[in-house]
Amino acid sequence: MPVPEVREGLTMKTPSFIHGQTLAHEALAAEAEAGLLAAAASVSPKFLYDPLGSRLFDAITELDEYYVTRTEAAIFAAEGDAIVDAALSGCGPAPVLVDLGAGNCAKAARLFAALRPRRYVAVDISVDFLREALEQLQQRHPALDLVGVGQDFSVQLALPAGIAGPGSLVFYPGSSIGNFTPEGALRLLRQARALAAPGGSLVIGADLVKDVQVLERAYDDALGVTAAFNLNLLRRLNGLLGADFDLAEWRHVARFDTPHSRIEMHLEARRPLTVRWAGGTRERAFAAGERIHTENSCKWSRPAFAALLADAGWTDVRCFTDARAWFGVFVARA
Ligand code: AVI
Repeated sequence: MPVPEVREGLTMKTPSFIHGQTLAHEALAAEAEAGLLAAAASVSPKFLYDPLGSRLFDAITELDEYYVTRTEAAIFAAEGDAIVDAALSGCGPAPVLVDLGAGNCAKAARLFAALRPRRYVAVDISVDFLREALEQLQQRHPALDLVGVGQDFSVQLALPAGIAGPGSLVFYPGSSIGNFTPEGALRLLRQARALAAPGGSLVIGADLVKDVQVLERAYDDALGVTAAFNLNLLRRLNGLLGADFDLAEWRHVARFDTPHSRIEMHLEARRPLTVRWAGGTRERAFAAGERIHTENSCKWSRPAFAALLADAGWTDVRCFTDARAWFGVFVARA
């Protein structure tokens, strides 16, 4: 994989883009099919994010019930300087800023003035998605090194040599860490630490446990946007596998599971039905009420999330929260 050219001395730099390993269509289809055929059917939440799913997720972040995005933004608005100071005290001035799941890069860009990174590395499953965002960002920050990396870091976080290293600041906002399995979350946090150590820092958002009604409304809103986001996964499977899911036959379900401290999203069959794909050569029968598990969204207590970070090797964990203690922005040292 080519290391991007670092072009010193130019007044206007240009972003570099690195295409990492992304799963080929066949591999994605095989993964989805294996999930559908499992005794307890489940499909990875990554299948929620096709172009329409990404737009529906953006709409979710604007819903009255979905407190997550605006609560995290309020913490950064109120505590941004203290968060940046805590992060810089770990990694030193002008760090390389590594943004996991960067998307439109807006959350990280808001920190540029205070952080003054020497390079911004935006990692996302799709480089194409990053292209426009980084090109616009370069207009506003002409002297900053911008690197876009296409990588499915839910499988493995491994940046090409020379992009980032010891002393980096890893930024992972939005509580997307909650969508991993506990083992996957630990693995990613360990890989992030390996990337930043020694001398680096982590700034990560994590949603906190709260009233079950508040949680369940956030994932089953009155407008039905989250239901559409979840059902869109079946549309995606129809395209990916050539399946014949009839979306009207399925119902969105979101429940808080107390033992696992997580919201679980499922799609539930409204009546007995059989789904076929691959030209009718594959099929799966569903009983009425049978479910496909599509997403977990873990909710932590502050000590539980601090313990997870410590388990992954991060130290000096600090938590910044809002008045209701609904969300935590955690800062730690590698
Ligand atoms: C992206 N992630 C943090 C969201 C969450 O809250 O777990 C995904 C989501 N699913 C339904 N609503 C939002």
